[in-house]
Amino acid sequence: MSTSQQTILITGATDGIGLELARLYAAQGNQLVLVGRRPLSALSETLFTPQTYCQADLSQADAVHRVLDHLAQQQIEQLDYVIHNAGLGYVGAVEAQPPDNIKTLLQVNTYAPIQLTHALLPLLRQTAGKLVLISSVATALGMADYATYIASKAAINGFARSLRVELQDDVGVQLILPGATRTGMHAKAGVDKAQMDWDRFPSAERVAQKIMRAIASNRRQVVIGGTNRLLFSVGQQFGRGIDTLRSRTVAQSKSDPRRCLITGFADGIGRALALKFAETHHIVGIDVDAERAAVTKADIDARGGSCDIHLCDLTDQGAIAELALDGAFDVVIHNAGISAAGHFAQMTIEEQILVLDLNLQAPLLLTQQLLEKAQLCEGGTLTFISSLSHFVSYPGASVYGASKDGLALYARSLAVALKPRNINVLTVFPGPTRTAHARRYSPDNSREQTRMSPDALAAQIYRATERRQRQLLPSLASRIVARLGLVTPRVTEWLMRKTIFEKL
Ligand SMILES: NC(=O)c1ccc[n+]([C@@H]2O[C@H](COP(=O)([O-])OP(=O)(O)OC[C@H]3O[C@@H](n4cnc5c(N)ncnc54)[C@H](OP(=O)(O)O)[C@@H]3O)[C@@H](O)[C@H]2O)c1
Repeated sequence: MSTSQQTILITGATDGIGLELARLYAAQGNQLVLVGRRPLSALSETLFTPQTYCQADLSQADAVHRVLDHLAQQQIEQLDYVIHNAGLGYVGAVEAQPPDNIKTLLQVNTYAPIQLTHALLPLLRQTAGKLVLISSVATALGMADYATYIASKAAINGFARSLRVELQDDVGVQLILPGATRTGMHAKAGVDKAQMDWDRFPSAERVAQKIMRAIASNRRQVVIGGTNRLLFSVGQQFGRGIDTLRSRTVAQSKSDPRRCLITGFADGIGRALALKFAETHHIVGIDVDAERAAVTKADIDARGGSCDIHLCDLTDQGAIAELALDGAFDVVIHNAGISAAGHFAQMTIEEQILVLDLNLQAPLLLTQQLLEKAQLCEGGTLTFISSLSHFVSYPGASVYGASKDGLALYARSLAVALKPRNINVLTVFPGPTRTAHARRYSPDNSREQTRMSPDALAAQIYRATERRQRQLLPSLASRIVARLGLVTPRVTEWLMRKTIFEKL
């Protein structure tokens, strides 16, 4: 893009990197829309005026409307850049994080950028502009005390990767990954400067200058800083390598009978898992569908197994808090999931937000609750059903891709956090599986018979649990696709566009 005056929206413009970006772009004479949660009266810089500043708390439901109202008042009908920079941190043990804090963090770091993108795409299309998503280099790492933060930012990586393929002719999508920076974010997350390598972090101004240069370039993804680039690529490559190893922790002290908790256990992969694990475990199944849950329970009973049902809508935070789960579990499988397939801009944002609620927020909330109540047995396994989309872009399901990337990186951080407690964390990346889920979201079902059967997948997950694997790519085909996605992402993007997106 040229350096002529541009209209640039920056979220989180009141502090840190966002404030520095605002100063730099203002100095170039651009028209700015600065979004922040503080009242204008609390902002002293001349940068912030009723014309430039939009007060919108991104953790609140009215945030998108506030931004749209501001744009309408200022008669701004097109945008050149939308820079999603606002972010919140949390540092501490997973079980100590209050559920409301998990929800707020996800809302600001993951939901708000997706919701705002949906609302602002028409304005970006006017200029063939660019969407810039600020993530973090930490998303290539598993870090025990940063599990929720990393999940929230990894979801943004997955969203960017898939949406980019979808919007390629219309609007650019760029992912920027800074490393640790000397800003107020750490103190706001409750970290003491003395605990960090504070003086070695670059200043917000320096990082903002580099981000600005990155935005002016055509690069799809930019890691800020040489050391961070090294860290990111080592973390990505070796992180995945480490995941494939078996956990060195050993299974022990199992409850009698062994107990297995499965979400979404009434149908599809969840039902197959319930039937398989019921051979050796008492099943505690969570589902929203009473009729199907009763059928699965009856089938387990008929085979000599045992099962309790908890009816719960996992998209409802209050319902998760009220789940009365007794006792401890040897195996917990976060399986419940939905998708929303179609063009991101054409689907309603509400149906896409439900995907985040069920696929990402619910496992985070439930895991926190189980850990807080010490309901995971020492020697047990915590399993997350992610998706092959973690390795390949998934145009036409960018929010689903976001949720599954968030889950995969959450699992990687939890693996580090739970190792001292001898709890293994297994992440499963299924490809197309022959269930109603796949049938519902595929453009055509002509190749349904080539999809893996849920029973075969359940048998593999059972084996991986017993062997204490950390990662499962359940077929040779999925292993090949995953490798291709890592080594030649543009080839898999093209394939996904042709075989899925263009048929939607
Ligand atoms: N600092 C790092 O080490 C680091 C490393 C990697 C990535 N990042 C990412 O870089 C981005 C900027 O972080 P930073 O270090 O500059 O943090 P920061 O200094 O704390 O600034 C974050 C900005 O986001 C705003 N914000 C927070 N919650 C909000 C909400 N509910 N509604 C609206 N605005 C909200 C903050 O507002 P207030 O001024 O009111 O707090 C502030 O303007 C974040 O996305 C962060 O995750 C930072």
